[in-house]
Amino acid sequence: MHFGYGQDPVLQGLSFTAKRGEKVALVGPTGAGKSTIVMLLPRLYDIQKGEIHIDGKPLAAYTQKSLRELIAFVPQKPFLFYDTVAENISFGRAYGREEIKSAAMSAHADEFILRLEKGYDTVLAEAGKSLSGGQQQRLAIARALVKKAPILIMDEATSSLDAVSEEHIKQALRGLKGQITQIIIAHRLSTIEDADRIIYLDKGRKIAEGTKDELLVSCPQFKLMWDLLYQNK
Ligand SMILES: Nc1ncnc2c1ncn2[C@@H]1O[C@H](COP(=O)(O)OP(=O)(O)OP(=O)(O)O)[C@@H](O)[C@H]1O
Ligand SMILES: [Mg+2]
Repeated sequence: MHFGYGQDPVLQGLSFTAKRGEKVALVGPTGAGKSTIVMLLPRLYDIQKGEIHIDGKPLAAYTQKSLRELIAFVPQKPFLFYDTVAENISFGRAYGREEIKSAAMSAHADEFILRLEKGYDTVLAEAGKSLSGGQQQRLAIARALVKKAPILIMDEATSSLDAVSEEHIKQALRGLKGQITQIIIAHRLSTIEDADRIIYLDKGRKIAEGTKDELLVSCPQFKLMWDLLYQNK
């Protein structure tokens, strides 16, 4: 497929498949086009050439509403609003408190929510400003998990998390493997490690695709990234 925001192409001749139940990781340097790819799936933007299919049907065959049902999306920057924690997680849908709590536990958010003045009924400041970056991310992840959508997209969703929270979330996502399709953008090692497939992108093109072990052999850029991540672990 091809896509550009303006005249200049951002994604060029790009093609890949995520099979049902698979966890696919998109990696590559900043500006490679990773966020752009995942924004095309819920049609936040439309591609200009080529096609994207979900379950064998082109995106155009889905209504916006049905696409939103299919996809849970955790954006690179979480957006929270002036309302209770529970409403921020349920995001306009009617979930029981137990469902909300269970999603919050998977996202390792329950522990800090319970320490807030009114727990799940605490009203958040505008844009979640009363919370740390990692707490905001955990709420955004809880919001995606409570939806139980068949496709989960996470864009650097664990970038400001501490190691303990990250480990909790990793476990929760591992439990979803085989059940839902996960497309994960990550700079962190732990999120890439157990991916079924990794796609290495640079300047809007796919440079390599394979498992971690395959890419370590076939893709020097990936090996370099991996070695640097290991030093920082
Ligand atoms: N809304 C936009 N309008 C115009 N250009 C954009 C827009 N969003 C991204 N771009 C450009 O598209 C290219 C790809 O950006 P993208 O955000 O997809 O990269 P990324 O791989 O997610 O990078 P990062 O790792 O920094 O998040 C960049 O050159 C960027 O400047
Ligand atoms: Mg990005």
